[in-house]
This record gives sequence, structure tokens and C-alpha cells, in this order.
Amino acid sequence: MREIVAVLDFGSQYAQLIARRIRECGVYCEILPHDISRGELGQLGPKAVVLSGGPSSVMDSAHPRMDTALLEAGIPVLGICYGLQLLAKELGGELERGSAREYGPASIDIDIGNTLFEGVGRRVDVWMSHGDHVVRPPEGFEVLAHTDACPVAAMGSEERNIYGVQFHPEVVHTPRGKEILKNFLFGIAGLSGGWTMAGFIEESVRSIRSQVGDGRVICGLSGGVDSAVTAALIHRAVGEKMTAIFVDNGVLRNGEVDEIRRIFTRDYPLNLDIVDAGRLFLDNLRGVTDPEEKRKKIGNTFIDVFSAEADRIGGADYLAQGTLYPDVIESRSAKGGPSATIKSHHNVGGLPENLSFKLIEPLKELFKDEVRAVGRELGLPETLIQRQPFPGPGLAVRILGEVNEENVTILQQADLRVQEEIVKWEGYPDIWQSFAVLLPVKSVGVMGDERTYANVIAIRVVSSMDGMTADWVKVPYEILGRISTRIINEVKGVNRVVYDISSKPPSTIEWE
Ligand code: XMP
Repeated sequence: MREIVAVLDFGSQYAQLIARRIRECGVYCEILPHDISRGELGQLGPKAVVLSGGPSSVMDSAHPRMDTALLEAGIPVLGICYGLQLLAKELGGELERGSAREYGPASIDIDIGNTLFEGVGRRVDVWMSHGDHVVRPPEGFEVLAHTDACPVAAMGSEERNIYGVQFHPEVVHTPRGKEILKNFLFGIAGLSGGWTMAGFIEESVRSIRSQVGDGRVICGLSGGVDSAVTAALIHRAVGEKMTAIFVDNGVLRNGEVDEIRRIFTRDYPLNLDIVDAGRLFLDNLRGVTDPEEKRKKIGNTFIDVFSAEADRIGGADYLAQGTLYPDVIESRSAKGGPSATIKSHHNVGGLPENLSFKLIEPLKELFKDEVRAVGRELGLPETLIQRQPFPGPGLAVRILGEVNEENVTILQQADLRVQEEIVKWEGYPDIWQSFAVLLPVKSVGVMGDERTYANVIAIRVVSSMDGMTADWVKVPYEILGRISTRIINEVKGVNRVVYDISSKPPSTIEWE
């Protein structure tokens, strides 16, 4: 019998992180809407339930609720932040609206020895982020920990197997957080763990098969890891019913088409269809300089090309995409979600409303390193798995201003020099992305005895865990110098190279 933990999502930006931590503990986990009924949840048969945090206040009249019958089902429950407050409210405890938000690092003092805090000491550093707090736990619950500002930093009822913590055990700023989650999963809920990415593949294959039935799937390959892993996963599930479409959109890296052809016909053969649509994309991008408009144009052209291609190969019912979790939150607010739109990542926000395919996005709850683990498990070549992320809209978001053939060639050639030089550096494996950007300015230079007035290339090299935040990398001067010399000497139309020393936030990784 497989072990599942259900995370009920109350709108927290950390719900996926909770799920990820649980997976890291070797337990399969699904994120479900907070108002799922006990009956529906019962069909899934979770062995434990975690209530996420959320931006709402339980003191407001319209706040997200849960089916309280769940609390009578004998399933171990852990409420986190809003989850704790909701437990307190539903079970008859007392809450207070905080006069000030408690946000940031804090230390909790453990009041009573309890399985939840086993092995983590009497005083634990935690991350807090809340306004309201519980002042009296419900009948039958004990206060397990407090801080100076928060009288009930953790509470629990051994008899009912229901626990709550005010802090966030899932974030890295709670250093012993994973041990606390493990205590809940293994010590309190009695799970045995042992689940791996192979388990994720099994679950996904099963659900893709049942979703697709006798339908046909097309999967857009972008050349990046995400779409390649998506294609491999769907191929594993439905085989020949999937066709992977690689669109040459005219804004690809140098040599990209050949590499994709080699990988997916030789190393990992699947139904591959390469469409040469470069002309169409460049025509559609002519005169477009606004970044969001570029992304939308590219997204829409992709869909047009897909639709035409799907018709040509005899129709498709599903479109598979390699959307990851960070893409989902950064594009979320366009759909009325709580976070602000940063960019419309083309495989999420840029899709037209009248899409005639049903979407399959099997990786949308995963982070990049988890996707790589899935790819390895599926047997994709390491060269592909180790590839740096590449944005769906391609070089178009690295050509500031208008995208045209001449600019694409300059950027491809400059980018090639960046890649050729940076892979020689021992720090290369720790880099998240390294690339060139073509700026929409010209500057004066002197080559030989001639005055030049030519383009500027910016080099961007960042480290990151998941693309959500990033630091610029202190690449040794010699490497930067070599890149600069080679670009200026070898790429026609460039006479200046600069290095981007901004982090995300406040900048983003791509320039558009
Ligand atoms: P930003 O520029 O938003 O990028 O800091 C974060 C990460 O996402 C990649 N990126 C994209 N990936 N479609 C994608 O599939 C897109 O439209 C897109 N835009 C950015 C970017 O390369 C970085 O790794």
C-alpha cells in the first residue's frame, strides 16, 4: 500500500516547498485544494495531512476553510502557520489579532518534551511570518512551545494526533525544520518512507496514461531540460501516441537544431518532428520591442505552429509542456493569484485563451533539481540533464529591442564564445546560467586606426537553486577577459563587452 501525504493548500507561497521537503524525506505527497471534502480525500487515502500557511486571517469572516470532518477521521494532521490558526479556530481555541507582524528569525522555547521536537534541543531557531496568533489552544491540546511574542508557537494533542506550528519548518531559515517534519511523518504518523523519484515516475506514468487514454499528445521540445524530461516521461507513458515537436523558431542557440536531432534520434529515440518556422517567428517579431509583447507573440506563434503541425500529423488532443513550479508562481497573478506578475513565461502566461488542446504539465510541482533527478532516472543523457535552463522565448528575450536576423546572428556568435570559454572554468558546474545579451545601444570604439560605432554585449553568469533568486557569479577576470577579447575580435558588429553584476531580486535573470 503506497503512502501518501496530502498537503492542503491555503494559498501559501510555500505549499510547494512543504511538498518538496516531504518528498525529500522519501514520502510521496500531493497538493490539494484546501476545501477538499473528507470523502474525496478518503479516496486518495492519505496517511497524514499537512495544512499549509496562507495569506488570509482566520479572524476575517470570509477566510479559507477546510472540511472539519477530516479532523475526526483519525488521520494525523500538522497545521503550519495559517494551518495552526485554522485548527485552533475550528477546534475551539482562542486567537488574537497581532498588533505587529512577527516576521523573520525567532527562537522558540520547547515547553514539553514531545515527539514533534525530538532531538532538536530545548531552544530552536525558526522562521516566523504571521500577524495573528493563538493565545489558548483548544481543549485537549497542550502548548508545546512558545516565543516571547507568541504564546503558542506549537501545540498538539497526542490523543487526537493533531499538531500545529506557528513557524515555517519547510524553509531553510528553520535549520532543524526538516527534522521536525521527519518527526511528524515518521514519529507521529508512523510512515516508513523510502519513496524516490522512481516513485514519481510511476505515479506520473499511471496518471498520464489514464488521462490520455486513446488520445494523441504533442509535446513541445525547447532544447532545455524541462521539456526534454517532459517528453521522455510522456513517451514512457504513452509511447508512439506522443510526437515531440521541436520548433526552430529562429531564435535558438548556435547548433541547437543538430544537437536536438542527435539526442532524440540517436541517444533517446522518440517520435521527433522538427519544424522549420524561423521565418514565421521573425516576421511576427518584426517591429516588436516591448518585452511582454514579444513573449506573447512568441507564445501565440508557437501555438499556431503546433496547431498546424498537429493537424498535419493527424490531430492531437493534448499538449504537453515542461512547466515547472517557479514558472507557475511567477506567472500566477495574471490568473488572479496572490503574487505579482513578473514575466509571462511563455509556457504558462502567454498561452491564448482559446487553446484547443488540453494541457498536460507533469512537472509543474517540481523544482529544477528534482526534474534533473527524474531525467536521470528516465535514462536521458547526462549532457542534456546538465544543460543550463534556456527560456522558451529563446534569444528573443536576450536581444533587447527589435529581433531581426542580423541581431540573432550577432548574439548566437557572441553566446557561442561565452559557452566555449566558460566551460573551461572549474567553477562551471556550479553555474545556473551563463549567456550573452545584445543591448540596444551602440558605443564608440577604435579598431586598428579606425573608429568603430558598434554593438554592446552584456555577459550574464548567475548561480541559483531554482531560478527564483539568483546571485551574479564572481567569474575570474582571466575568463571574462578571454570572453571579451574573443567576442570583440571574432564577432562582427561588436566592439564592447560588459559584465552584469546584478542579483535577482531586484533584477531578473533574463534581461526581458
Ligand atoms: P527570470 O528572468 O524570470 O528567469 O529571472 C528565471 C528562470 O526562468 C527562465 N525563463 C523562462 N523559461 N519560459 C521558460 O521556459 C520563459 O518564458 C522563461 N523566461 C525566463 C530563465 O532562463 C531563468 O532560468
